[in-house]
Amino acid sequence: MSLTRRALLGAAPAAAALVACGRHDDAANAAPAVAPVRPLKDTAPFRIGTCLMTAELDDPQFTGLVQRNFSQVTPEWEMKMERILAADGSLALDAADRIAGFCRDSRLAMHGTTLVWYAQDPPTFEALKHDRAGFEDHLRDYIRQVVGRYRGLARGWDVVNEAVAEDGNGYRGGVWAEGLGDDFARVPFEMAREADPDAVLFLNDYNLESMPAKLDAFQRLAERLLKAGAPLTGLGTQSHLGFDTPPGQAGAAVKALARFGLPIHVSELDITTHKPGLSLGSPSDPARLQAQARVAAEIAAAFADLPAAQRYAFTIWGVRDKDSWLRGSAQGAPDDAPLLFDAAGAPKPALAAVEAAFARR
Ligand code: XIL
Repeated sequence: MSLTRRALLGAAPAAAALVACGRHDDAANAAPAVAPVRPLKDTAPFRIGTCLMTAELDDPQFTGLVQRNFSQVTPEWEMKMERILAADGSLALDAADRIAGFCRDSRLAMHGTTLVWYAQDPPTFEALKHDRAGFEDHLRDYIRQVVGRYRGLARGWDVVNEAVAEDGNGYRGGVWAEGLGDDFARVPFEMAREADPDAVLFLNDYNLESMPAKLDAFQRLAERLLKAGAPLTGLGTQSHLGFDTPPGQAGAAVKALARFGLPIHVSELDITTHKPGLSLGSPSDPARLQAQARVAAEIAAAFADLPAAQRYAFTIWGVRDKDSWLRGSAQGAPDDAPLLFDAAGAPKPALAAVEAAFARR
């Protein structure tokens, strides 16, 4: 299962609406329960992350699950440019600050996302795209303010997100390529390094498991950046997978990327149990949840097998199934069950499988 560009774009504006109306809840998704397991974060010697939205911080069950099971947080949407940078050029950091405060209070590390993403092209950058110096000044100022503000808390940043074209043939820079030309990927890395000398700086992308051409193009871009002296110091694979991911595929990108010797981030893991066109069965069928657990175990094992210095973090893109962005996206379904805890907050077979994979290492 791979995500289409349309699905990703279609999902972007959905965030606020999902939070406003509360995400789809389903009683059917409570089974099958698995025996209580250890706190996930206690089962591995590396950071285990999740993503969250400020609205979820008002839900004690949610915050309890995060504090018990995770050791790192990626802001799901509220640290993205689309949320922070207003049309008049001012910065709205209220939500990002609240997440940062929660991380500090809960002794959780933070991972920042994302600085440059083709899917977000704010009007203030559009207006400057034919003025290279002005464009660079605006970007430098944005990165200095945002990255600088969370320095010391954010261990790392997704500096450039989803640069590789959907089919792996070339790159997509959006307004960033128009404003910065061929340097659209290198320049933001240099600016992020100026803003934070210590953060791990990531190139991050998706469908690297399912599309060999995309994985190749991603690696070529990483090579090019390193050759140009860019401070690229981490590689992120989002890992939006499916329960029917063929055996061997889930861990392949992790293993391939490891050859660079850089820290690796499994940055947005979810495993959809929805399958378009499959009329038999539902996303919470036990067989699908078991298949999901197998995929989860495979990528967890591949990550755990990396040398210690390369295990930046293993991040799951949400906590409970009802929190997942996939429930509101074109690719997912309202009853999708892609995460490690069910809609009621109970552990799923995939959680036990991840813990078992870590324990065997
Ligand atoms: C998604 C969030 O989960 C949504 O809430 C938001 O509306 C759009 O972004 N790839 C990425 C992430 O890099 O930033 C996306 O997150 C999921 C796909």
